[in-house]
Amino acid sequence: MVSEAPPYRPQSVCFVDQLSLVAVNSAAATARRFLRLSLAKWQAGCLEDDAFLVTSELVTNAVAATGVLGGQPTWDGLKGLGLVTVRLIGLPDSVVIEVWDVSEEEPALRHDTAPEDESGRGLLLVHRCAKRWGVYRVTGGKVVWAELAVGPVPPPPPLPKRQRQRQWSERPLVVPGPTTDPDLLRLLLAGLQARL
Ligand SMILES: Nc1ncnc2c1ncn2[C@@H]1O[C@H](COP(=O)(O)OP(=O)(O)OP(=O)(O)O)[C@@H](O)[C@H]1O
Ligand SMILES: [Mg+2]
Repeated sequence: MVSEAPPYRPQSVCFVDQLSLVAVNSAAATARRFLRLSLAKWQAGCLEDDAFLVTSELVTNAVAATGVLGGQPTWDGLKGLGLVTVRLIGLPDSVVIEVWDVSEEEPALRHDTAPEDESGRGLLLVHRCAKRWGVYRVTGGKVVWAELAVGPVPPPPPLPKRQRQRQWSERPLVVPGPTTDPDLLRLLLAGLQARL
């Protein structure tokens, strides 16, 4: 189940956002805020519900494996904690959520939870929401990742048609030439004489 490499090729990565947090129990809430801002920026807000759930479960697991849950950690206590890094990777038609932690323990998907059990369902939820998920090793820890598909983006509505203004150049150009019509010449002459 644990692989040695990320599930995507570096050349297919379109964009990346990353946040590192001390492994305390507020990390999941901070990660969700970061996620909301990044998904809005990427116009991928449609992923928000699934992405929130996946990120919460993965960050909570990473903190449980490497940090402190509950209480008010002191400055000295914080110094001894590892970091949990959340990385969002935009691929051409999906988003990968990666959560790095400093534990070498592997996550274990549990299929044997009883209805009365209050825990042991986090990874099962990730498994249901994600297109695929997995784990890969990095120096000094591991990365648990989940990939969410981005649905086809509907095309924008067509712009209203603009009425073309008649251009001066489109008007028929009539350049009056010298007239030889005797009736018209007589009329013009009469008009001029009346003015004198
Ligand atoms: N990042 C991790 N590092 C080490 N072990 C992990 C990690 N994530 C999960 N595990 C192991 O996998 C088990 C199953 O994780 P899962 O999230 O499904 O359940 P849980 O965390 O025990 O309970 P719940 O998420 O329902 O509160 C955990 O109990 C833990 O032993
Ligand atoms: Mg869990």
